[in-house]
Amino acid sequence: MNKNSTPRERELEIKMKLLANFGSMVSKETKIDPLLEIIAVQVKTILGCDRCSVFIYDKKTNSLWSKIAIGLQHTEVRVPLGTGIVGHVAASGMSVNIPNAYSDPRFSKELDRLTGYSTKNILATPLKNISGKIIGVFEAINKFTRAFTDEDEGILKLISSLAASAIENAKLYQRLSESQLETIYRLATTAEYRDQQDTAIHLRHISEYSSLIAQSMGLTQENIEIVRYASPLHDIGKVGIADAILLKPGKLTDDEFEEMKKHTLYGAKILANAESDLLRAACKIAASHHEKYNGKGYPNGLKGEEIPLFARIVSVADVFDALCMKRVYKPKWDPKDAHDFIMKQSGNDFDPSVATAFDRIFPEILKLQQNTTDGRKSIIPGISKKNNGMF
Ligand code: C2E
Ligand code: SIN
Ligand code: SIN
Ligand code: FE
Repeated sequence: MNKNSTPRERELEIKMKLLANFGSMVSKETKIDPLLEIIAVQVKTILGCDRCSVFIYDKKTNSLWSKIAIGLQHTEVRVPLGTGIVGHVAASGMSVNIPNAYSDPRFSKELDRLTGYSTKNILATPLKNISGKIIGVFEAINKFTRAFTDEDEGILKLISSLAASAIENAKLYQRLSESQLETIYRLATTAEYRDQQDTAIHLRHISEYSSLIAQSMGLTQENIEIVRYASPLHDIGKVGIADAILLKPGKLTDDEFEEMKKHTLYGAKILANAESDLLRAACKIAASHHEKYNGKGYPNGLKGEEIPLFARIVSVADVFDALCMKRVYKPKWDPKDAHDFIMKQSGNDFDPSVATAFDRIFPEILKLQQNTTDGRKSIIPGISKKNNGMF
């Protein structure tokens, strides 16, 4: 920093740095709640005010919602369009700078009553998407020094244009993964796993074990999520296998096993040509989860790294869980024996780095097994049914 610069110049320079930092922070976050949190914290820092709330417009209810701290809890509050400052800004599409909230007739004291907060001054600006539609409102409250200035207003407008595109992306991302998950649930339950008594538990195990292994191997958060949600589809191709084979209560003949092997090809076909990363991964997993590291698996005899990593991971999770579960053709194994089997086959059936990761997180796997037999119901972890009503 130039030491001849005036305090004013220094202040501007700091603001520019904060803004640049803001842009890079918000573009990295794809989940809506943490994103809104980051935005609020950043705005408070940049504008030097006590509170910042981001209200998101919900078309369905024609209202704006925000998560606001009430005591120690974050509670969702809703403001109808046209009501209060926030509702007014959303309806008019114009920013407002209010030096004294309680003397403004548009101000609604409702939120202050709820939060026990005392609003003095407000700077609120609309959040617009690229096509100019209002997607929400930014509200900065109680500037520390004086009332908000015109410069603050300019900065908030700038921030809101950056934030709006990040929020749009996060909404898109969320919508995408919600619809993808729905597809997965549908597919997985249609497949019905006719060969297993407890479909839900098996799906959940595969999902949890695979994502734990992926995590232990140091995969990115995104890839861990992909493994978590794609792995339950690995045996979807079993829908194409006749009951006489799938449900046979004993050892399969060679011919029958040849038929059985086709579940990998059927699965790959069902999931072929998908556009999402998630379903593309699911397709590879379905196709290659019975390949073996030494090249002696099926359907293609792929070897080592030729086998997609996700499939090498699911292979360990699948065999471990199959061994631990009762099947029409076999009794269940003790988990310790199943673990030893995996480790013994490391380098033969399984990728040694996957087996090592499995070994590392084995205590957690045992814990999960315990939990699921205790009757936790949801098939796949990490999915909350809560809908913010954004769409
Ligand atoms: P699955 O029952 O889900 O088993 C998945 C994989 O776990 C098996 O793939 C195998 O690698 C491993 N596995 C399961 N049980 C045992 C076991 O008792 N010993 C050992 N060493 N490994 C075991 P695999 O062999 O390619 O089988 C694929 C699918 O074919 C099985 O899925 C199952 O649905 C069916 N299958 C395999 N063998 C038989 C059988 O003898 N009778 C019947 N009815 N189905 C079978
Ligand atoms: C309002 O929109 O009038 C309420 C402002 C606030 O959040 O305190
Ligand atoms: C086979 O029958 O060859 C597969 C072994 C098994 O899954 O028990
Ligand atoms: Fe399989």
